[in-house]
Amino acid sequence: MELFLDTANIDEVRQGARMGVVTGVTTNPSLAAKEGIGRLEAYRRSVEEIAGIIDGPISVEVISTDVEGMITEGRDIATWIPNPWVKLPSTQAGIEAMSVLTSHDIRVNQTLCFSVNQALLGARAGATAVSPFVGRLDDIGQQGMDLVEDIVQVYRTHNIRTKVLAASIRHAHHCVMAAKAGAHIATVPFSVLMQMVKHPLTDAGQSRFSQDWRKASS
Ligand code: E4P
Repeated sequence: MELFLDTANIDEVRQGARMGVVTGVTTNPSLAAKEGIGRLEAYRRSVEEIAGIIDGPISVEVISTDVEGMITEGRDIATWIPNPWVKLPSTQAGIEAMSVLTSHDIRVNQTLCFSVNQALLGARAGATAVSPFVGRLDDIGQQGMDLVEDIVQVYRTHNIRTKVLAASIRHAHHCVMAAKAGAHIATVPFSVLMQMVKHPLTDAGQSRFSQDWRKASS
C-alpha cells in the first residue's frame, strides 16, 4: 500500500519526503485554508512547491460545483504540475466533469466517496483513484473501513483498475485496516505518519542499547 500525505503544509511534505516513504500528496480546500491559502494563485503556488518536493501524484481539488466550472478548473489544474490528479466530488456534476476530463487523459481522484455505487460510477467515468472517506463515516456511527473493503472487493470482482485510496484517515490503526482491506493507497495526515513510526518498545529498546553500550565502553 502506498502512502500519500494529506496536507497542504510544505514543512510536513518536506519531512515526509525526507523519510522516503511518501509517494504522493492530497490537498483539498480545507487543508489549503488551514495554511492561510484562500486564492487560486496561492493554491497553485503551494501545489507547485509540493510538486517540487514529491515526484508522485499531487491531488488538487476543484472549487466549482457546476459541471462547466469543474471542467474549466480541471483543465487548468492539469497544466500546473507534471503529475496532477484533479479531485472531483462524487456528485452528478462531478461524475459528468470526470467523464469529460478523463476522456482528455486528465487523471482524476474521485473525492467525497461514501458508497460503493459512487465508486462504481467513478470507475465508469474513468477515475484513476477513488477516495472513500473512512473517518467521516466513522463520525456518523458507521464502520468507514467497511466501505474500503467493499470497494476493493467489487473492483477485484470486475477487474476495475481504478485505485482505492483510503482517505479521511484519523489514526494509525486506520492504516493497518486499510492495508488489510487491500487499499492501494492511504492518504494520511502528518500526525498519523508520526503515529505509524512510533512504538514505546522501540524507544525503550533503543535507549537500553545506548545505555548498555555506554556502560560496556566506559
Ligand atoms: C483527502 O483526499 C481528503 O480530502 C481528506 O482525507 C479528508 O479528510 P478529513 O475527513 O479528515 O477532512
